[in-house]
Amino acid sequence: MTTGPTRLADVSDVPETGSYLFTVREADGGREEVILVRLADGVAAWKNFCQHETDQRLDRGSGAAMRDGEILCPKHGSMFDARTGYCDDGKAAGATLVEVEVTVEEGVVSLTDERCEFLHEGGIEEDDGMPGTSSHLSF
Ligand code: FES
Repeated sequence: MTTGPTRLADVSDVPETGSYLFTVREADGGREEVILVRLADGVAAWKNFCQHETDQRLDRGSGAAMRDGEILCPKHGSMFDARTGYCDDGKAAGATLVEVEVTVEEGVVSLTDERCEFLHEGGIEEDDGMPGTSSHLSF
C-alpha cells in the first residue's frame, strides 16, 4: 500500500518511559493508532489497543505507562513485553499486541509496514474522516 518507508521520528523523539503516538490508515480505509516504544537497542511499534478489551487504548494521549520494559494497560493493568508484545500476566495473559513494522536506520525510525500508511502524529482526530460518529455540536 505504501510506496516505501515513511520517516516517523528520530529514535531520540521516542520517550524512554512512555510512547510516541501516531495514526495510520489501513488498507480498508480505517484509521488506527500506533505507539512507538523504546527498547534497550531500538524501538518497537504496536497498535494502540489492549488485547483484553480492544477499545481500551494503551496510550490515551499522554504516553503509555512503561515499567521495566513492559507496557502497562491503564484499564486493568495487564503488562505487555515492549519487545515481543506478549502478555504473560493479567487479564490479557497469553495475548500479544498487534505489531506494526518499523525499521531504524541511523537513528531514524521509519514505517515499513505495507499494510498501512502514515497519516499524522498523535491520535485519531475527530475530523479524520469518520463521518457522523461523534457530532459534538448541535444548534
Ligand atoms: S483492558 Fe487492558 S487489561 Fe483489561
